[in-house]
Amino acid sequence: MTQRTLVLIKPDAVRRGLVGNVLGRFESKGLTVVALEQRLIDGEQADRHYAEHVERDFYPPLRAFVTSGPLVALVLEGDEAIEVVRAINGATDGRKAAPGTIRGDLSVSNRENLVHGSDSPESAAREIALWFPDL
Ligand code: CMP
Repeated sequence: MTQRTLVLIKPDAVRRGLVGNVLGRFESKGLTVVALEQRLIDGEQADRHYAEHVERDFYPPLRAFVTSGPLVALVLEGDEAIEVVRAINGATDGRKAAPGTIRGDLSVSNRENLVHGSDSPESAAREIALWFPDL
């Protein structure tokens, strides 16, 4: 089934010059970019995006991180795109993510893990509406 999913290429990836590497993996897989924009977000946008995490212990440094510099927000479309993107991203903790995944190849951090991908169809719908309300 064709799906859309929201991806963030986080500020660590932008700082490290990895946007092309990360985006290339999604494109090479066959996913289609239907929206893409570089943005510098404020804490309120971070809170809306990570609404289910705002009470967690790890949230204050995560909030500081995702607002620390520009990120690239995009919507990808393709067959089973939500699961496909999560597989390409790898496990949350870059130290544990499998080689071959974005995080497994390029991150050694649980926080600065380069990418975000929607985790369910409900999250994808909410996140796409939040980041790209005109879609
Ligand atoms: P993401 O897929 O964007 O979803 C929530 C984010 O919170 C996650 O990637 C990490 O950047 C961060 N995160 C999740 N768990 C932890 C943790 N235990 N410590 C630090 N950061 C975390």
